Amino acid sequence: MPNLMIETLMSHLILQVVKFADAKEVIQSLRSKVFQVEQKVEPTIDFDGLDETATHILAYYASEPIGTARIRNLNNKLAKIERVAVLSTHRGQGIGKAIMKAAIVYVDSQNIAEIKVNAQLHAKAFYQKLGFEQRGDVFNEAGMAHIEMRRSKHPLAE
Ligand code: COA
Repeated sequence: MPNLMIETLMSHLILQVVKFADAKEVIQSLRSKVFQVEQKVEPTIDFDGLDETATHILAYYASEPIGTARIRNLNNKLAKIERVAVLSTHRGQGIGKAIMKAAIVYVDSQNIAEIKVNAQLHAKAFYQKLGFEQRGDVFNEAGMAHIEMRRSKHPLAE
């Protein structure tokens, strides 16, 4: 039964690659709910002026925006995925994984060899399951414990 429910959920899930200018209000609303309201991150830290030059992923469930992430190319060999957020009401159902997979496929399609995330420590296992490995020690970012994790280009597991 749980598998059937997940299948039904995924058939209503739509993932989009968007520019910030085309989805600014939706992205800001999602990130405000998750980072500002839930995690108490300062808006100026979240909205750091880099959104305009980033590529964004949006997840919709039954036409409702429920998750997002952004991708920035740091150079022609390394991209960074950040601002990964799923509304608390929709977690634990594979939405975050689907957003990350869409972001990874997008980076891979640009022939960029490596992806970096600065992962909140609590999300380490989430990124490990997507093939990311820890680099270095825990550090503080936006008032929370983080680790750098990296993923070299290789096929995504199902
Ligand atoms: N700790 C450990 N494992 C986790 C996890 C966590 N916090 N969140 C997800 N996972 C695991 C799931 O158990 C699942 O494992 P499985 O494939 O073996 O079943 C897998 O990762 C995928 O989980 P999924 O359901 O796709 O994750 P989600 O939709 O709940 O989204 C986050 C995960 C982290 C994006 C979501 O919890 C979130 O938005 N948190 C608040 C913002 C945040 O912390 N963002 C990360 C910033 S680095």
